[in-house]
Amino acid sequence: MPASAAETARAAERAAPTGEPGGGPPPAARDSVLVLDFGSQYAQLIARRVREARVYCELVPGTVSAEEVRRRAPRGLIFSGGPASVYEPGAPHPDPGLYDLGLPVLGICYGMQLLAHDLGGQVAPASRREYGAAQLEIDEAAGLFDGIPTETAVWMSHGDVITSLPDGFRPVAHSLNSPYAAIAGPGGRFGIQFHPEVVHTPAGKQLLANFLTRVCGCAPTWEPASFVNGAIADIRARVGSGRVICALSGGVDSAVAATLVHRAVGDQLTCVFVDNGLLRRAEAERVVDVMSRQLRISLVHVDAAESFLGALAGVTDPEEKRRRIGRTFIEVFESEARRLGDIDFLAQGTVYPDVIESTSHDTHHARTIKTHHNVGGLPSDLRFQLVEPLRHLFKDEVRRVGLELGLPEDVVWRQPFPGPGLAIRVIGEVTRERLEVLRAADWIVIDEVKRSGLYRKVWQSFAILTPVSSVGVMGDGRTYANVVAIRIVESDDAMTADWARVPYDVLALISRRIVNEVPGVNRVVYDISSKPPSTIEWE
Ligand code: XMP
Repeated sequence: MPASAAETARAAERAAPTGEPGGGPPPAARDSVLVLDFGSQYAQLIARRVREARVYCELVPGTVSAEEVRRRAPRGLIFSGGPASVYEPGAPHPDPGLYDLGLPVLGICYGMQLLAHDLGGQVAPASRREYGAAQLEIDEAAGLFDGIPTETAVWMSHGDVITSLPDGFRPVAHSLNSPYAAIAGPGGRFGIQFHPEVVHTPAGKQLLANFLTRVCGCAPTWEPASFVNGAIADIRARVGSGRVICALSGGVDSAVAATLVHRAVGDQLTCVFVDNGLLRRAEAERVVDVMSRQLRISLVHVDAAESFLGALAGVTDPEEKRRRIGRTFIEVFESEARRLGDIDFLAQGTVYPDVIESTSHDTHHARTIKTHHNVGGLPSDLRFQLVEPLRHLFKDEVRRVGLELGLPEDVVWRQPFPGPGLAIRVIGEVTRERLEVLRAADWIVIDEVKRSGLYRKVWQSFAILTPVSSVGVMGDGRTYANVVAIRIVESDDAMTADWARVPYDVLALISRRIVNEVPGVNRVVYDISSKPPSTIEWE
């Protein structure tokens, strides 16, 4: 790290508050970098890769002010890719003041073109778009490319190219179509035309680690478990003698958040578990057993199945189902909270991707595909103050914290489950009978996926009860019964997903067991669509 950058960072560090929501790293994160998001579909992935390299980072809008960056005192900056062209009017550019902070910068794709354009070089449309795998030839091995073979595969996706470099910059790697596949300039500034964050760039991890440790001088010390003590102290200081309520969903995020808060303030915490009657088999019992009996957290178990099923009667439209479930949840939760009397704080298992999604609307003009409901989906006018101890963590980090806190493995490694539960997996009207059919089939899917050792390798595995009936033959008789679909997907972050190539033998076993063991089902199909264009859930 150049001396000026180190000084800037240290000076800013003295002035920077830490551990505030969205305002600087938690105390356990000594060195950090900022990822500036210029609208890349991979921005979150870059941030995760940096954390995997054991350096704390946060994702901020590409338009963040130099003042804000100085306050956060990072050791370096990463400019993400993005869909715009740097020379177009209205294309997002970083605050020019950022370049005066003396911080190392790694520009990725659009981020590299920003560096080139903003510092006096030129960028123009490429004669043809470069997309997909390319062979990188490294011309200068030191620094960014330390330990990386001189010829290595990389993933490209760009329509613009640099046509002239800014003063002081030099090419350090090239590919067949990109003479400037990687560039280096003074003060630890690098640009790369390819994407180091995707799996198709096998040396990407090493490259990011080189930038973080060798160029920025970060110590690779970020460890989610080391965050526990600081988080507990923070919660204690914030809550004081106040009372906290936490809505449990059965999922890992709310369980870990509740456990942390419980460690901090003990019986000042009351958890409310709204059993909506839409959970998987044995799930409600497991939540109550772990949280209440094993961890001794004060827990109110509300059996609200009647209310939810009543609200869903006759409803088949997926969005209407989601709305009604969301509304019923709020009604039930609010009435429980009122019954508990004076409550000051609401603890939520909000995780970093939720924070990013709720603050990135400027750069991501995402259309509403589904109105997600989860236990965090409470109205903003609730009278509680929020405690969100996991808001800096990615899901895999939450799991590590959960294990550190002593939560059982099956809770920590539970696959994601949607807030509206099985209601959006019973296609068509949701009734008790149809839920029971789905539960039985789903149980078999999970059981066989676990037995085959795939449960932790895939993102989600579940059954869907379709509204289709089909003809079958059992013994000598004709049947006319339900078709169950199986969905098993691989994914990194649920933004994209691919259907899992599960061995035929496992699928055969699942199918055989379902038609034999679940009354009312005579056919099983496997969903072989990826996201996009499909979504993970059917509704
Ligand atoms: P989709 O179906 O949109 O799902 O590809 C992406 C991920 O989100 C989960 N999901 C939900 N989670 N409330 C949630 O908390 C919801 O309403 C909801 N809908 C979908 C889904 O299971 C997948 O992991």
